[in-house]
Amino acid sequence: MSSLSLKPAHEYSTSFLADLMTRSFEAYFVPINITDTVLLTMLRRDGIDLTASRVLMKDGEPVGLAMIARRGWTNRLAAMGITVNARGSGVGTWAMAQLVAEARERGDKEMLLEVIEQNTAGVKLYEKSGFKKMRRLVGYKLNNPQVDTAEEIEEIDIRELARTVTYHGMQDLPWQLSGTTIMQHTPPSRAFRLNDAYCLISNPDVMDVAIQSVLVKARSRGAGLSGVLLRTLFAKFPGKVWHVSAIYPEEMGFIFEHVGMQRESLSQWQMSRAL
Ligand SMILES: CC(C)(COP(=O)(O)OP(=O)(O)OC[C@H]1O[C@@H](n2cnc3c(N)ncnc32)[C@H](O)[C@@H]1OP(=O)(O)O)[C@@H](O)C(=O)NCCC(=O)NCCS
Repeated sequence: MSSLSLKPAHEYSTSFLADLMTRSFEAYFVPINITDTVLLTMLRRDGIDLTASRVLMKDGEPVGLAMIARRGWTNRLAAMGITVNARGSGVGTWAMAQLVAEARERGDKEMLLEVIEQNTAGVKLYEKSGFKKMRRLVGYKLNNPQVDTAEEIEEIDIRELARTVTYHGMQDLPWQLSGTTIMQHTPPSRAFRLNDAYCLISNPDVMDVAIQSVLVKARSRGAGLSGVLLRTLFAKFPGKVWHVSAIYPEEMGFIFEHVGMQRESLSQWQMSRAL
């Protein structure tokens, strides 16, 4: 019988945790390389609490990691991975039961996560741990769009965008799209506004640019304003590869399809579990 236990993540150094996370996501659907800077950015943006996050131990050796982000009564499993040699032997199932019990213990009422739909082991693990699918999350890509437009967009403080998303956005947006997360974004990311349409993009000085937020105020929806904003953005920063990661609710996908973006093959499930 092997013995399983959990240790608080804050007892380990940043470099140790970054390395363990990289090893826990070996042979994943997308290549994962967590450097110290990537990890520190995740902690700050996503509100990961290292005192609630856990290193998974098997026979005294670290074999995995569970990162827990927290806001009010809600927590999010921000990352969960087991090193290759320890997978498929029940460690994940055991760890999820502990994490749910610990969340209840500290008074949380809901636990959230996102999992790649094509990740059979992950989806199975979370469903057997009591998580229910909320909705599908989709991503898009577009290579070097050719657009000409005379529209002008105004650059705004990311904080103004974050306040607008908090006030006008869907209340159950995935964690990474919520106003609270957007509020933690900083330069070189940039926010823009065109009338009642808003967006946030990653550094547009490099080749690959991510669209990290798109919002149209309720009173102006249905008039194609998001398309005008995105096309203006494509014209302002020509020659880029535009990315939308698979964290957008499927019902928002039309925004990206209207400007000719192609759907990515990987999608995610946004899942939730009452505690
Ligand atoms: C997903 C992951 C955390 C599961 O942990 P684990 O310790 O391997 O899970 P368990 O052994 O407890 O198995 C959980 C369920 O998945 C099933 N499963 C495990 N590996 C599987 C595989 N390769 N294919 C299909 N099902 C699989 C198990 O049979 C079990 O279901 P069952 O109880 O109905 O038999 C682990 O595989 C992993 O770290 N993968 C890489 C990172 C990742 O995908 N993280 C999750 C996304 S955030």
